[in-house]
Amino acid sequence: MPMTDTARNQITIILATGNCDKVRELRPLLENISPLFRVFALHEIGTDVEIEETEATLEGNALLKARAIFDLLAERFPFMIALADDTGLEVESLNGAPGVYSARYAPMHAGESPTYKDNVNHLLHSMNGIANRTARFRSVLALKGSLPSLQGPFLFEETADGVVHGSITLEPKGDAGFGYDPVFLVDSTGKTYSEMSMAEKNALSHRSLAVQQAIVALKDILAGHSIPLTDTNASL
Ligand code: IMP
Repeated sequence: MPMTDTARNQITIILATGNCDKVRELRPLLENISPLFRVFALHEIGTDVEIEETEATLEGNALLKARAIFDLLAERFPFMIALADDTGLEVESLNGAPGVYSARYAPMHAGESPTYKDNVNHLLHSMNGIANRTARFRSVLALKGSLPSLQGPFLFEETADGVVHGSITLEPKGDAGFGYDPVFLVDSTGKTYSEMSMAEKNALSHRSLAVQQAIVALKDILAGHSIPLTDTNASL
């Protein structure tokens, strides 16, 4: 849809990610909240920016990205919500590592990025001989937005998180998924994420729990400012 066709009271949600799987997962969840919401990934609005994750926490990085995208696009989209996420695997016996460094855990030469396999191998190697395999996956979503209300436009920031408890297996198990999925055994199912179908994983994953919490928070914000979820109030 051309951006010039947007309804006057439409609310644009920009996903601060280039990951198509995340966009596919998030778009229907968010657009189901209200017909006023239109969800776009950065590349879909012709914006190509890479925001460096320089903070020491998942919350910090998610907020950093949401704020950067909001600031970049606020003039172009008067009513807009920038949504960003950061995810980490936190292993108890490694004092929470790889945590915020999950994507770049395995040591590499300068300028090289580790593959998922490099990171998994490094994790198993780091835990060689360690009996306590307790771990958790945690996703944090950050939202920064500007919305209309009868009292005038208002700004908000919000974070939501989702946690799944489990343990690190002694060796990879299963073929599905990505990242640390083959070595993360979910307590509640006794299966690794890689031994689950995508639907099974999405029903209980750290990311979908964070999304559900963010949706509740967003609905509360809209209700708190008497913002209708339907297109009936064209005066906003
Ligand atoms: P991001 O913040 O979503 O980019 O995630 C950072 C890193 O955590 C990724 O590069 C993956 O290695 C890992 N990761 C994130 N989500 C998952 C997941 O659902 N399964 C397995 N690994 C994940």
